[in-house]
Amino acid sequence: MKHLVTGGAGFIGSNYIFYLLEKYPEDKVICLDKLTYAGNLSTLKTVLDLPNFKFVKGDICDRELVYDLVENERPDVIVNFAAESHVDRSIEDPSIFLNTNIIGTSVLMDAARKYEIKRFHQVSTDEVYGDLPLDRPDLLFHEDTPLHTSSPYSSSKAGADLLVMAYYRTFGLPVTISRCSNNYGPYQFPEKLIPLMIAKALNEEKLPVYGDGANVRDWLYVEDHCEAIDLIVRKGRIGEVYNVGGHNERNNLTIVKLILEELGKSEDLIHFVTDRKGHDRRYAIDPTKIHNELGWLPKTTFEKGIKETIAWYLEHREWWQTIMSGEYQNYYQKMYLDKGRV
Ligand code: NAD
Ligand code: TYD
Repeated sequence: MKHLVTGGAGFIGSNYIFYLLEKYPEDKVICLDKLTYAGNLSTLKTVLDLPNFKFVKGDICDRELVYDLVENERPDVIVNFAAESHVDRSIEDPSIFLNTNIIGTSVLMDAARKYEIKRFHQVSTDEVYGDLPLDRPDLLFHEDTPLHTSSPYSSSKAGADLLVMAYYRTFGLPVTISRCSNNYGPYQFPEKLIPLMIAKALNEEKLPVYGDGANVRDWLYVEDHCEAIDLIVRKGRIGEVYNVGGHNERNNLTIVKLILEELGKSEDLIHFVTDRKGHDRRYAIDPTKIHNELGWLPKTTFEKGIKETIAWYLEHREWWQTIMSGEYQNYYQKMYLDKGRV
């Protein structure tokens, strides 16, 4: 099988590429990535020279480039990870989220239509369902839960999901969508909660916890997400949405304390800061459909996954220290220091 994976120099896309190349050594993988601040070619260094892997630098919004690439390569499937993915950045400047996440998705689907690609898979998020109250643990997101977004990020992802379903109904494009909960694991950009807190703790700097730290996320180890996407691409029903999550809800403060404990650092480093605007309280996925239809179940417990993730960040300091010394410094200054958060 020949896969065109967009956004493969980012966190989940790179893990997906590693997963594919390891599990299906006979498959071919082409990665299209713009290499924004979140994309890092060094992440892909172990696969760059493989004969069945090819990296193409480019923007999914660039129609000419995308059409040329799809025409020349004729992939069997397109899996779209490429996105602006950080909620806080979307609150600062929504416009690029609309371009990449909505327009970019439509350009890829137009190419998929034109060249009759057998499957277009959209990697989406549970954030399209909005949030759930903290005092109703019985409530979960189902595939038919109405879309009810809070941030420009989640709205742009929901916009893309709606377009994907429109291309299925109107043009018969063979699509699938996965909506996953929060991922963690190797190669996550250190602006997201878990890697940011690991990096701050290791540097003995203040750990900025938004609001009261009681917001709940449903955490999934990245490799389990990759396995779910692979199953959906190969065996999922066309035109269907699949929720992906592992019934693993934790509040932010619990996660931060766990990281500090694992690293042997003091809880005095915790610093409660101004809350995120429109901050979603709780996400929780019901993954019954993907379990019943495709037999998917997560393999990595949170206890094991978080230990492995912390160990990975300890062993790969150069990877995240390089990232944090570049453009990220300006971001941290603007989003945390200038706002008086830390
Ligand atoms: P990321 O920010 O780490 O990576 C995004 C990648 O996309 C980067 O390599 C970046 O260079 C690339 N990119 C951005 N704009 C592009 C463009 N216009 N053209 C080509 N490439 C572009 O994101 P991630 O956390 O790996 O998320 C990947 C996907 O999974 C996103 O669609 C996101 O919405 C979705 N998702 C993420 C999570 C999570 O917890 N991280 C959970 C559910 C769904
Ligand atoms: P994040 O990793 O940005 O993912 P998302 O908002 O897409 O779920 O944030 C996870 C949770 O951690 C969220 O409730 C916001 C919170 N958070 C902090 O408390 N401090 C921080 O510095 C960051 C980045 C996030």
